Amino acid sequence: MSRSTVLVTGAAGFIGSHLCEALLAAGQRVVGLDNFDPYYSPARKRRNLAAALQSEAFRLVEGDVRDQGLLARLFEEHQPEAVAHLAARPGVRASLADPLGYAQVNVQGTIGLLAVSARAGVSRFVYTSSSSVYGAGLLPFEEDQPPSPLSPYAVAKYAGELYCRTFHGLYDLPVVCLRLFTVYGPRMRPDLAVAKFARALLAEEALPIYGDGTAARDFTYVADAVAAIQAALGDQGEQAARVGAVLNIGSGVATTVQELVGLLEEATGRRARLHFEPPAAGEVACTCASIERARRLLAWQPHTDLREGVAQFVTWYEAEG
Ligand SMILES: NC(=O)c1ccc[n+]([C@@H]2O[C@H](COP(=O)([O-])OP(=O)(O)OC[C@H]3O[C@@H](n4cnc5c(N)ncnc54)[C@H](O)[C@@H]3O)[C@@H](O)[C@H]2O)c1
Repeated sequence: MSRSTVLVTGAAGFIGSHLCEALLAAGQRVVGLDNFDPYYSPARKRRNLAAALQSEAFRLVEGDVRDQGLLARLFEEHQPEAVAHLAARPGVRASLADPLGYAQVNVQGTIGLLAVSARAGVSRFVYTSSSSVYGAGLLPFEEDQPPSPLSPYAVAKYAGELYCRTFHGLYDLPVVCLRLFTVYGPRMRPDLAVAKFARALLAEEALPIYGDGTAARDFTYVADAVAAIQAALGDQGEQAARVGAVLNIGSGVATTVQELVGLLEEATGRRARLHFEPPAAGEVACTCASIERARRLLAWQPHTDLREGVAQFVTWYEAEG
């Protein structure tokens, strides 16, 4: 990718802050947009951006992705050539309590950003969708199987994809939708299982397990997810953007909650006590990605396996989490 400006929405979040750093390291200019939503500590999100803010090539714009006037001014001032759209209200369980709010940010916010990006003629629009769109689909999840979202979060992420495809069809907007599978690593959201379990283990509290521990997830290390977004933004993403592709980004391996607990015990040197709770409504029992399409179209593949990634997360968590 030549030196150009990339707009990263959700820049202060877990994945967004890592993406900003990776783009800056690759010599890009980055404009980060975030409203420091209080789903988890805004102070923590500010800490996430500490390294990016050291760079002259980084600008932070504080505001809401739904604010059309703000987007128009941002595009006029910074003229981004590519957009990575990560801003969203995350969390399957939390979306059950506020389905309308999730639709407003995750759908309406995406439509407004697509509209301004199409008008500006950006060369790439990368949308971070979610494995949750598959619901209880056939394993491994392949991109062409019909989505079957089980929660307001999942249906809003899927609606965002449909709008991306529609803008691709109407205006030739070069769109790539990445369905991310459970991303984890340093700075991860405190509501996600790896972070919740690590916190409980180190505090010598019981680990809350929804269901019987056989639920399984395909875990993606944050650096691998960021590498996929970078590939989609750059020359590697050209073929995918031409067809408005939807691509799974995962490891291709499903790990049960019990196996995950074992890896966390290994990394922390602590023994876990488990507290079983009823399965959570809206959650999918098992996810596992087919990643052939991302390998083929993005020349991307994951590099960090779960044992190594969990160890890196625990090292970070013990120092800074
Ligand atoms: N973490 C995962 O496992 C995972 C899996 C699949 C998809 N995703 C998607 O990846 C993206 C990033 O997720 P994350 O885990 O880094 O979450 P995160 O909550 O850490 O980051 C999202 C960021 O968006 C910001 N934001 C929320 N509403 C906004 C608004 N109205 N205007 C501007 N900014 C707003 C938040 O303040 C936050 O900093 C999201 O789109 C999410 O749906 C994440």
